[in-house]
Amino acid sequence: MARVVLGVAGGIAAYKSAFLLRLLTEAGHDVRVVPTASALRFVGAATFEALSHHPVTSEVFDDVDQVAHVRIGQEADLIVVAPATADLLARTVHGRADDLLAATLLVARCPVLLAPAMHTEMWEHPATTANVATLRERGVLVLPPADGRLTGADTGPGRMPDPADIAALVELVLHAGPEALRRDLDGRRILISAGGTREPLDPVRFLGNRSSGKQGLALARVAAARGAEVTLVAANVDQPAPAGVRLIEVSTAEQLRTAMLAEVKRADVVVMAAAVADFRPTIVSNGKIKKGSGDPEPIELARNPDILSELVAGRRLGQVFVGFAAETGDAERSVLQHGAVKLAAKGVDLLVVNEVGAEITFDRPDNAATILSADGEQITVPRGPKAVLAARLWDIVTARLADPGSGLS
Ligand code: CTP
Repeated sequence: MARVVLGVAGGIAAYKSAFLLRLLTEAGHDVRVVPTASALRFVGAATFEALSHHPVTSEVFDDVDQVAHVRIGQEADLIVVAPATADLLARTVHGRADDLLAATLLVARCPVLLAPAMHTEMWEHPATTANVATLRERGVLVLPPADGRLTGADTGPGRMPDPADIAALVELVLHAGPEALRRDLDGRRILISAGGTREPLDPVRFLGNRSSGKQGLALARVAAARGAEVTLVAANVDQPAPAGVRLIEVSTAEQLRTAMLAEVKRADVVVMAAAVADFRPTIVSNGKIKKGSGDPEPIELARNPDILSELVAGRRLGQVFVGFAAETGDAERSVLQHGAVKLAAKGVDLLVVNEVGAEITFDRPDNAATILSADGEQITVPRGPKAVLAARLWDIVTARLADPGSGLS
């Protein structure tokens, strides 16, 4: 359990902060909400009080005997401001202390995460750009806003990221520290596949697998927060793309292959986190297959192409390729031995190996894995949030981009 301060500035996205508050308290954190006076015009203090079980005020002159304007910031393990408006960013840059939230930010020495939300014009204004740059230089973690529908009929960058996205990044920073969101992937182009392919049998049935896409989403979310330009090729993932991530939706292995081949040239890093069906039914029935009365017809299967091997075969100098392997040990080889064989067979730089079983890995928020490198090194990431494994992988990838011969340290 951590002590989290949830700052809420005065934008329409303030209504979403109630959902974020809920996610943070459900994760077991003690959350103190500090809204601005404008935020309270969008969401009443009673909502925040009921959900956080703490009194809520935006004024420095309330509870003066408690010295709240200093104490709340001093005691926090992390401060997240969502939404952070253009005005809040500007006030923070100038070290203002004209309300409880600004004073709290001025006092705090813990990690600070800002989730900006505003109209595109405001986000793209040189003043805001400069403010964001200044805050980042000071070590404040400023998330990229999402692209999409704004308050009016207009669309563009400026939406507050989904509360679930922000909550996942809060968890990452609490587990791994603010370095887990440093901007070391700025300008890098990253292509990630996620989810599990479905191979149709008829209009209603398919052969599929248990991959939820959560690990791929975590990789995309963390890479985007670290400054990368991320394209996510998602196979049957039922969650929205994280903020700042370009989404290409596919379903079958063949569609996934086409999308990856179209995107691979411009990518600096390719991560195949999707679970790809190795086989597909040779015949896809146009109509729904009837059960009939006799024995069922056997399903004839054809081999799907190995997409990762094909991508690696066309690699250009400097590209980094990462594969995933969900393995079970057997009489001949351990999980890691299977992983080492697969790494060599696929020709990737890094392979993330998971041990799988009925109750581990699939559709869970946490994961444990061993990352193997082509130089024979290995690093084990203990069980923790999927975002932590993602951040660890990006640490290793960043080192390889800077120095292709580097190891896993
Ligand atoms: N992969 C791929 N194309 C396939 C199958 C797998 O690109 N047709 C990729 C996966 O996305 C993953 C890696 O290859 O990054 C390893 O996947 P896995 O299913 O473990 O490997 P397979 O080659 O299918 O080997 P196995 O015989 O163990 O299933």
